[in-house]
Amino acid sequence: MNRAAVICGLGGALPETLVSNADLARELDTSDEWIRSRTGIENRRVIAPGQATSDLAVAAGSRALASAGAAADDVDLVVLATSTPDHPCPATAPAVAQRLGMPGAAAFDVAAVCTGFVYALAAAAAMLTAGTVRQALVIGADTFSTILDPADRTTRAVFGDGAGAVVLRPGDPAEPGALLGFDLGSDGAGSDLITVRAGGSRQRSAGGDAPAEDHWFAMQGRAVFAEAVLSMSKSAQHLIDRIGWAGRGPDRVVAHQANLRILRAVGEQLGLSEEQITVHLDQVGNTVAASIPLALADAQNKGTLTPGQRVLLTGFGGGLTWGSTALIWPSLHLAPAPAHI
Ligand code: ACO
Repeated sequence: MNRAAVICGLGGALPETLVSNADLARELDTSDEWIRSRTGIENRRVIAPGQATSDLAVAAGSRALASAGAAADDVDLVVLATSTPDHPCPATAPAVAQRLGMPGAAAFDVAAVCTGFVYALAAAAAMLTAGTVRQALVIGADTFSTILDPADRTTRAVFGDGAGAVVLRPGDPAEPGALLGFDLGSDGAGSDLITVRAGGSRQRSAGGDAPAEDHWFAMQGRAVFAEAVLSMSKSAQHLIDRIGWAGRGPDRVVAHQANLRILRAVGEQLGLSEEQITVHLDQVGNTVAASIPLALADAQNKGTLTPGQRVLLTGFGGGLTWGSTALIWPSLHLAPAPAHI
């Protein structure tokens, strides 16, 4: 029998602390008008001192397990997409698995920045369909507030913290929720466009001579903008052609939430109306690896994602990396509102 990885649970988590555009404008040379008109973002949330990525990941993961009705010991794989792990070493996923009550589970991190969740889904789906694991928890979680230069008005306006998660179980490729295929890619020639220069083996964090600013996240926004539109549209179209959706196309696209203008341009490239493009960034900003699952949970709770819809997920991020997958939206237990930690 052909096996597929099927999404059967969904959940999200956000930090309590909300930072509005007006809050940023009190601190930096920016305005609500600039941020809204250039990005579509109104609010973002940031973790409190002492909190870390794993705290959000555990909260989102436990929401997804509850939505799936899955017992922790039914799940034997945790894949965590993050570029802001709790520590450079070891990976954060084993600690998340342990805190969720699954200490023997296979657990590893995936670092593909904003494409991380799609890459993590692909890795977990492959292990599940090969029969290596029984059920998988796939989490996207990031806390970019911990790596942003406090004086950088562009990145401070754009990024927010959060986590989103899904549970995958084995099933039939024809059933709703089955992941129908993946398109994944990268272009390392653009690795300097989205980067934290120091803290790795090339510019070490301790005993090295890296300038302080090299420890902050840096992004060449304008160059990345064009790449984001091109990569997500091309990747989505490749997948649409490959899985035989070219005739009718997707009903909804849930794309990485980087910028409202990027979402609209991707929709235009794919010949979709504005109503078919999911927008969640107005409330949370760009939450990096959490962005797609958080947008899914929000759309599921608002009722804009309904069972039977043809849904395409597409992401783009640092690396550069991109990736897409698609599914018929399943009937899920309503994901509870995101946990606030
Ligand atoms: N408030 C006021 N002015 C600002 C702000 C701000 N918050 N930020 C930048 N500006 C100014 C700049 O200083 C610049 O001024 P200048 O012309 O006097 O030099 C001007 O606005 C234009 O700057 P740009 O960077 O060209 O602004 P742009 O319209 O491109 O918007 C943004 C910046 C929002 C970052 C946009 O480029 C973008 O969304 N890029 C894509 C991001 C993306 O998709 N990233 C990929 C995923 S992220 C990841 O993988 C981690």
